[in-house]
Amino acid sequence: MSLDGIALRWMRFEDVEAELMALRRAVFIDEQGLTEAEVADPTDAEGVHLCAFADGELVAAVSAYVFEDPDDEGVTEWGLAPSRGPVVRFTKRVTTPAFRGRGLSALLLAGLFHAAHEVVRPCAAFFVLKGPHRAMSDALARLSGLPAEARGDVLLHAARTLSDCDRQMRLARDQIERSVSKTGLALPSLTRHLLERGLGRWLGAERLAGENLYTETLNLRDELPRLTAQERILFGYQRHHLVQAGLPPGPATLVDLGCGPGSYLAMMARMPELAGYTLIGVDQCPQMIAQGRLERPGLAWHQASAYTLPLADRSVDVVHASFLFINLRSPDLALAEIARVLKPGGIFYVVDVHDPTFQGPPEILALVAAYHAGNNASRRIMAELPARAASWGFTLTRTAATPLVNDLPETGVEVHPDRVRMGRMNLWGLLSFFGQPEALEEPFERAREVYLRGEDEVQVSVLTQVYRLGAP
Ligand SMILES: C[S@@+](CC[C@H](N)C(=O)[O-])C[C@H]1O[C@@H](n2cnc3c(N)ncnc32)[C@H](O)[C@@H]1O
Repeated sequence: MSLDGIALRWMRFEDVEAELMALRRAVFIDEQGLTEAEVADPTDAEGVHLCAFADGELVAAVSAYVFEDPDDEGVTEWGLAPSRGPVVRFTKRVTTPAFRGRGLSALLLAGLFHAAHEVVRPCAAFFVLKGPHRAMSDALARLSGLPAEARGDVLLHAARTLSDCDRQMRLARDQIERSVSKTGLALPSLTRHLLERGLGRWLGAERLAGENLYTETLNLRDELPRLTAQERILFGYQRHHLVQAGLPPGPATLVDLGCGPGSYLAMMARMPELAGYTLIGVDQCPQMIAQGRLERPGLAWHQASAYTLPLADRSVDVVHASFLFINLRSPDLALAEIARVLKPGGIFYVVDVHDPTFQGPPEILALVAAYHAGNNASRRIMAELPARAASWGFTLTRTAATPLVNDLPETGVEVHPDRVRMGRMNLWGLLSFFGQPEALEEPFERAREVYLRGEDEVQVSVLTQVYRLGAP
């Protein structure tokens, strides 16, 4: 059954109260035999409500509330003892009978879970089920990887630790991907909703500023030279797209966000098209920034998170980000910051790999899939980025796909207009970080064995997307 005509929105309680209460009464009291006491929740007024409307009528909803103090009784009464930050309570999922069995409810739950873990970054999260809820409990267990705990006459589903939260977020991400590809429904931005409601303090930008998903599994001693080599190759095929991107003439300011060791920025500094530019490298990793500073002291370098940029509002003409978004747990928080620091009409230039474009033997594809499954960012973010960026006022102006193919003999790199030909070992060098997480040792070894047989063509495309802040 289709979900045509459905729109998903985050709602303030006061704007949906009458309809929401009527829907909850119909489901909780009339259908499930619960009492009036279960209809309203004391946290409703301040909570967030992800709602689905069909032709303007509320047909499904699920709500959440952020306890800023993990010692709040609303948390401790459930036996949760988190210590490091806020706790999210998910609650009151309701769907009108006509819209059950169409995947809407699963999408709403996954959307709420994912958004909360992406932008609030709680240290625990839970859902309390009252009433006849076996099917719902099974669905929650599947969606969170967390079994139900019986507490008197209720069932508790609790993500008690950060790693439980991470798993809940990854499973929700995969559910959203399945739902969105089936239904085409877009999830609205929770970050925007919280900012518009003056609830920006619920956003976890400061907590997330210490997180670097990229470096957390890597040995930096091996990684810095690998990245430097990758940046040279990248510049070789991006130069042409950069020239075509409609960058403004200097003087102007360009920020390379997630700049790594800075070789790419140093090569940009030599482009005649960027004469008169002030170039700024920003990276969360101190070793990357130290290397940039050492090699190019004339450029500006800041060690900072993409979630909390040390740059003034409307002060930047171009933000460039290569292979950053694929490493971000919270792309929405980064987009909010990029939209804040760019001048109106400013350019946001993104380059990233896109895993679904991988082609090669099954062992390589299995390794790529295993890496994605355990990763707290999405390696398919480029498919989502246009919709996410649009909600921050960006217009997509240009896209390009560059296939990297391993069809040269042992070493070498050739940049052609339609693809980059690489030596087998050069491409393998770019892929070698897949083997860094300990849990991937086995799939990595299998992939390596197959790759080193030297018979299979492997390719992957790097996607470029250029956005302008504001209408075209
Ligand atoms: C794959 S490297 C890409 C480096 C360079 N842009 C390139 O194209 O080679 C990803 C970089 O993003 C940085 N990074 C990861 N998370 C970040 C965050 N939240 N804020 C800023 N930088 C971050 C990492 O430290 C790393 O240098």
